[in-house]
Amino acid sequence: MPRLRKNSRRDSRPRLSGRAKLDALSAVVLLLLTIALSSACRLDMHVQPKQNPFSRSDFFPDQRSERPLVEGTVARSQLYEDTYPYTGRIGGNFGDYMPFPLTKEVMERGRERYNIYCSPCHSLLGDGKGFVPSRGFSRMPPSYHTPRLEKAPLGYLFDVITNGYGIMPDYRSQIAAEDRWKIVAYVRALQLSQNATKADVPPGQAIPSEPPKFVTPIGSGATLPAEAAPASSSAEGERQ
Ligand code: HEC
Repeated sequence: MPRLRKNSRRDSRPRLSGRAKLDALSAVVLLLLTIALSSACRLDMHVQPKQNPFSRSDFFPDQRSERPLVEGTVARSQLYEDTYPYTGRIGGNFGDYMPFPLTKEVMERGRERYNIYCSPCHSLLGDGKGFVPSRGFSRMPPSYHTPRLEKAPLGYLFDVITNGYGIMPDYRSQIAAEDRWKIVAYVRALQLSQNATKADVPPGQAIPSEPPKFVTPIGSGATLPAEAAPASSSAEGERQ
């Protein structure tokens, strides 16, 4: 505690002793020193000896801070040794095979991805009567069940998803290449499913039930069409 002493009658304010003044002064100096030191530290973090993107460097003769990549550098996950899985093309032509084996899991994943990404426009059946175009679209998506698209090579379908087609946007960045192929496989399965006949059943395999006959148009799959009363017809599979 600083000692207080009464001075004169005119100045009745308490006064600090010489010792206390010294203490106060050294405290202020210490405080200033601390501020000065800590602010210097902060500045150091802000002004670092580094190069910002595209900043000039006096260190290299070409004055570019970015250095060219070492020859043969490959970015992670961008080693495309085989181009077919990423383009669907062999040379300039579209290939017509899957770049990996077709399994039940592949088909299931393809159906899931198709229903998420494509069915809003192309419908669950792929007839082009999806919900989005039903609200007005400058050009309707085509049905997959046309001779031209039924014959289209798988690589072509992959290309349409990868690069878009006409007013259809591309899905290169939203859907990984592997999933795009799985969708392609599912689109081909949809095409086969809409045109299958009894003749397509492998020999020796039993047909579990007769295909149903519908009295109303099959529609987009959003609602079930009305089924005809079971008859003893020897009809082939429904053709659209
Ligand atoms: C936003 C709506 C929309 C979505 C989503 C969409 N498409 Fe399309 N698609 C279209 C339209 C519209 C066309 C017709 C484009 C044109 O003729 O300009 C088309 C055309 C196509 C064609 C036919 C190309 C040809 O040669 O005629 C295929 C195949 C196709 N789409 C597949 C897909 C697949 C697979 C997906 C899912 C990954 C998908 N589309 C998602 C709207 C869409």
